[in-house]
Amino acid sequence: MIPVSSLSLAATDERDAPLCLFSHPGGVLAGAGALPPALRKDLSAQAAAEGFTGELGECVGLRADRGGRSRRFLIAGAGRREDASPETWRRAAGVLYQHARGRFEEISVLPGPDARATAEGLMLGSYRFSEYKKADPSRLARAGLVFAGAAARRGIEKACAEAAIIADAVAMVRDLVDRAPSDKTPESIAALAQNLAGAQTKVTVISKAEAEKLGMGAFLGVARGGGADPVFLHLTYKPKGARRKIGLVGKGITFDSGGLSLKPAASMETMKMDMAGAAAVLGVFKALPQFKIRAEVHGFCPFTYNLPGPDAVRPGDVLKAMNGKTIEVLNTDAEGRLVLADALVYACRQKFDAIVDLATLTGAAVVALGSKVTGAMTNNRALLAQLFSASKRAGETLWELPLPREYREMIKSSFADLKNIGKPGEAGTIIGGLFLQEFVDDTPWVHLDIAGTAWTDSDTPTCPKGGTGALVRTLVEYLKAL
Ligand code: BES
Ligand code: MN
Ligand code: ZN
Repeated sequence: MIPVSSLSLAATDERDAPLCLFSHPGGVLAGAGALPPALRKDLSAQAAAEGFTGELGECVGLRADRGGRSRRFLIAGAGRREDASPETWRRAAGVLYQHARGRFEEISVLPGPDARATAEGLMLGSYRFSEYKKADPSRLARAGLVFAGAAARRGIEKACAEAAIIADAVAMVRDLVDRAPSDKTPESIAALAQNLAGAQTKVTVISKAEAEKLGMGAFLGVARGGGADPVFLHLTYKPKGARRKIGLVGKGITFDSGGLSLKPAASMETMKMDMAGAAAVLGVFKALPQFKIRAEVHGFCPFTYNLPGPDAVRPGDVLKAMNGKTIEVLNTDAEGRLVLADALVYACRQKFDAIVDLATLTGAAVVALGSKVTGAMTNNRALLAQLFSASKRAGETLWELPLPREYREMIKSSFADLKNIGKPGEAGTIIGGLFLQEFVDDTPWVHLDIAGTAWTDSDTPTCPKGGTGALVRTLVEYLKAL
């Protein structure tokens, strides 16, 4: 089963554990107002003597006198106050967590001004993937966010509770992405998704036979490569009195070999992550009921392997999507847009106020935007603006790419309505977006290319190497605001 974050986090009166606080450059101790001025001065002086400057990424352990006895302190850099954001507080807290994990069982943390982000950083930093390894020996099991006075207590409690919901959803996504590709068949993911069903959440499994009846020829074309039967999941969250209806669509390629247009070995190494879009949709559904979101939300996740089996779709083959459009498959490695084509048509027929898709769609997005910025494309400025502001609150970064009509020429085919690739080396991420747009009606729609952001190649303070859980927080913030 999927474990949740290993750290137990709660609001607390200050305890005996090492007391942790944050400092900006210049010796300003954030959230340290609760400490006597003499102690603050002592800590600042000691930290400076240790070469601590307050930059993000630093952490220093000290001892000082508190209440007549020697007490341990940890001070983590928070970076410049002017640059502070949820993400910088999360990172500072993540650094603190990584520093403390091998050393202490428990810490007490005086949060800076953003207790919620501090709590999230601690919890996200505690995540480890442990399905195939003995549990991590790190000891830090408990962290308390210290509240100063009864009035602050409720705010800190709320921060801890909300951070735990997000961290558990993100942990589920990371677990799914990190799991070995052979251990995440479409059917086994469907079985896991059933655990999300509840009073307001329904999980419907659309089988291969049903997908055939629905005419999902593009999705089924990819599945012909074999590995296991495909599954199309439809999740529904329907709270009472919902006034908005939102669709989330996620790419669920459980391993992308490229198909007959086989990838080079090195490019295949991380391709178990090609279901990160669908995993993020599942993560959102885990969090929805706990946040009592008031919008009706549907999730659409086409799951399949992309393998070069004997019946695999061949370059030159023509597939027919659910809306009747024919697609010449010139590169079987451009499979994400094929499975999403049918998912978008299926979703659009159910009339949403907005549809957002998430997909590890193009290597070109990694080239253009790197691993910290998600590419966003849209047919609706107002919807994109809502997602941008949600991403700011969540501390994730989106950047818009255009969908120029002139470029649609590039996906015209001599033999079918469309071809699944444009000109090699030209605007690959945009071409992916333009292709998807062919399967969206006038429903407001945003396409998020998370090829760069869904995975980290190295450990960071808030995420070990592997799946990141990108965009879960942004989508939850977006849905909360409706
Ligand atoms: N899943 C890949 C995109 C990808 C690449 C995600 C690197 C994460 C990291 C996608 O299916 C793919 O292979 N896209 C091709 C499209 C091309 C053939 C038009 C690509 O980007 O090379
Ligand atoms: Mn591919
Ligand atoms: Zn892919």
